[in-house]
Amino acid sequence: MTAITDMVAFEKDGDVAVLKINNPPVNALSHGVRKGLLEGMKMAEADEDVKAVVIHCEGRTFIAGADISEFGKPMQEPGLKETQDAIEDSSMPVVAAIHGTALGGGLEVAMTCHYRLGVPKAQYGQPEVKLGLLPGAGGTQRLPRITGVQKALEMCVIGNPIGSPEALETGLIDELVEDGDLLEAAKAFARRAVSENWPLKKVRDRDEKLADAKANPSIFDDFRRKVARKTRGFMAPEYNIRCIEAAVELPFDEGLQREQELFVEVMTSLQSQAQRYYFFSERQANKVPDITKETPLREIRKVGVLGAGTMGGGIAMNFANAGIPVVIVERDQEAIDRGLGVVRKNYERTAKRGRISMEDVDKRMELLQPALDKGAFADVDMVIEAVFEDMELKKSIFAELDGICREGAILATNTSALDVNEIAAMTKRPEDVIGLHFFSPANIMRLLEMVRATKTGQDVVATCLKLSKAIGKIPVVVGVCPGFVGNRMLFQRGIEANQLILEGASPYQVDQVIYDFGFPMGPFAMSDLAGLDIGWKEETSSSSTVREILCESGRRGQKNGRGYYVYDPETRASAPDQEVLDIIADFAKSKGIEQREVSDEEIRDRCLLPMVNEGCKILEEGKAMRASDIDVVWVNGYGWPVYRGGPMFWAESEGLGNIAEKIKGFGDSIGGDHWALSPLLEKLVADGQGFADLEPQTIR
Ligand code: 3HC
Ligand code: NAI
Repeated sequence: MTAITDMVAFEKDGDVAVLKINNPPVNALSHGVRKGLLEGMKMAEADEDVKAVVIHCEGRTFIAGADISEFGKPMQEPGLKETQDAIEDSSMPVVAAIHGTALGGGLEVAMTCHYRLGVPKAQYGQPEVKLGLLPGAGGTQRLPRITGVQKALEMCVIGNPIGSPEALETGLIDELVEDGDLLEAAKAFARRAVSENWPLKKVRDRDEKLADAKANPSIFDDFRRKVARKTRGFMAPEYNIRCIEAAVELPFDEGLQREQELFVEVMTSLQSQAQRYYFFSERQANKVPDITKETPLREIRKVGVLGAGTMGGGIAMNFANAGIPVVIVERDQEAIDRGLGVVRKNYERTAKRGRISMEDVDKRMELLQPALDKGAFADVDMVIEAVFEDMELKKSIFAELDGICREGAILATNTSALDVNEIAAMTKRPEDVIGLHFFSPANIMRLLEMVRATKTGQDVVATCLKLSKAIGKIPVVVGVCPGFVGNRMLFQRGIEANQLILEGASPYQVDQVIYDFGFPMGPFAMSDLAGLDIGWKEETSSSSTVREILCESGRRGQKNGRGYYVYDPETRASAPDQEVLDIIADFAKSKGIEQREVSDEEIRDRCLLPMVNEGCKILEEGKAMRASDIDVVWVNGYGWPVYRGGPMFWAESEGLGNIAEKIKGFGDSIGGDHWALSPLLEKLVADGQGFADLEPQTIR
């Protein structure tokens, strides 16, 4: 074996040369890989004994794409195209041996090989769109020539990979290597290609799969319409479509050139920068400064959930989905029956959509063991409490759990805003207590705010980080403060949104501005969805806010068809309501507030800037480890558009100096704690620094 670069080796086995890539963790196409493959192809061509080449990767995966960390830096030669040309124009068959994930540039390299083989579990995709990009190495031109236009549109514009069975069916791979050694199978395949004199198939020369779209160009607009809702606000999906259109309309080389032009546009866009930043932020959030591979872990084999309401049921489903048994305790039989009934319905709906089988439904339900006595938690390794948001109730429950649960069991609360230190203090083992703030619906939402209280043990944090991966969550470690990161910032937005409607903006205008910014819905539509009466009590209601008055007049939100909006009972479509505008106007008048026209720009600034200011305060108080963690919370938990990176990234893209100036301005004209400029923000501006200049901090 000869090392060509530190990432690619050349190995000869008789008449087959193997180019072995070893660039952990995902064999990305870093400079050393591109160079190694190019040199390796030249070595093979120059070696008289070599009759075929196999490209194979060490470790867990085939090439998973271009090296994203190289983006935005000067390109080191050779570029990927030169390497691909060497493969495609080779005088001998080149075979890609695929395991793991052949993604992005990885699939694009594979498509320049003459043949492709895959193991059953391998996946193939062009996920560039998720990074605000498009396949920039011929993917948009070659993929439709293999799979046909419709499939290529789906793969490039949505970005989800396909598995081996589908890859085989569409011709993306030539053969499935069912079992045994992939590399040996690929060598044998290559030898067959040589001995049987198979043609050197070049995807670029194949046009037959483009014929349908050529005859029926409306396929593109049909597809645009189909994905319009999902891709609203994003730039890259449309650019991917245009490239595939070019594949159909133009000769291969011109199509390739078009792809390059459009690639440069998306690559240099703020949207892609935001999405790439977000990709790394999500992975960064897992890393906690004082937790290492050596930090001991606790074993979680069985979990307890207290409360089978909205959250408890969803939380339990996460564990059942991962095959972890759960004991669920409720107050009475009716509550447990109702809770588990909702869980079953949820699973059955998923089964109806074909995502799981009915057998899976039963298996998962069997993992959920109902009980009416907390004594059933005696042997669990972790309990997650999800009862009403009431401090006294939670405190008494933790004191009780302390007496029931075994030594070493983790005691977690799903509180959305309460002081986890105060709850932990009710036990003799505060080091075992942590906040695990799931988001609703808990079986679907991937964000998990992991609230590290002052005494929470490192091993408890480490265990919960590992566990969150097992149940498919994206954890962000945060500190104890009212509302933690997400709700604390949401609260600031709420203050201004409620004030704006008194000053004359309608709830519909506010919602529209937030929707146009890229959120799935605005604050008032969100209140209607959650229920206006959350936390509202008729007995104590005193007409002191618009929301209270709406509740008093029988408006509860979507659930009874009337909230800030009215809802069509059949379609659930929402419409504005003059009665609500009158209620608001009367209330404003009673408070002596004169209503005026409010601009969209003012709405945007007043809703979003206090969030950024609060994010900075969260950082300066040490309640988040890094600014990017705050962005992960907002993108994942609250629908901040990922193409704007998150509130902190957005603030930087707008210029921290600008943002600080505006906050100061509103502080002078409006006042209030939420407009008091964060000293951290002020300092960053004064020092000409950004959030990336701050060291990650340990939350205590
Ligand atoms: N470039 C650089 N680093 C990458 C990378 C890439 N393409 N893909 C993953 N990584 C890094 C991650 O940042 C992470 O680093 P860390 O350990 O320091 O945090 C590490 O590899 C492992 O990644 P994951 O934690 O995501 O590992 P998983 O096993 O969960 O997932 C994966 C593996 C499915 C490959 C996933 O990482 C992934 O989806 N990667 C991105 C794939 C992609 O988008 N490829 C297209 C790139 S753009 C492109 O190819 C342009 C071309 O058209 C020219
Ligand atoms: P819920 O009212 O739907 O469910 C609470 C359940 O707890 C009820 O089924 C009730 O019977 C049960 N319960 C109450 N006291 C109990 C006791 N002593 N023993 C056993 N069971 C008991 O409430 P929800 O919405 O599920 O909220 C639960 C917790 O999750 C709260 O702390 C809330 O703040 C938090 N949370 C809620 C979110 C939401 O969107 N609903 C989001 C994130 C967190």
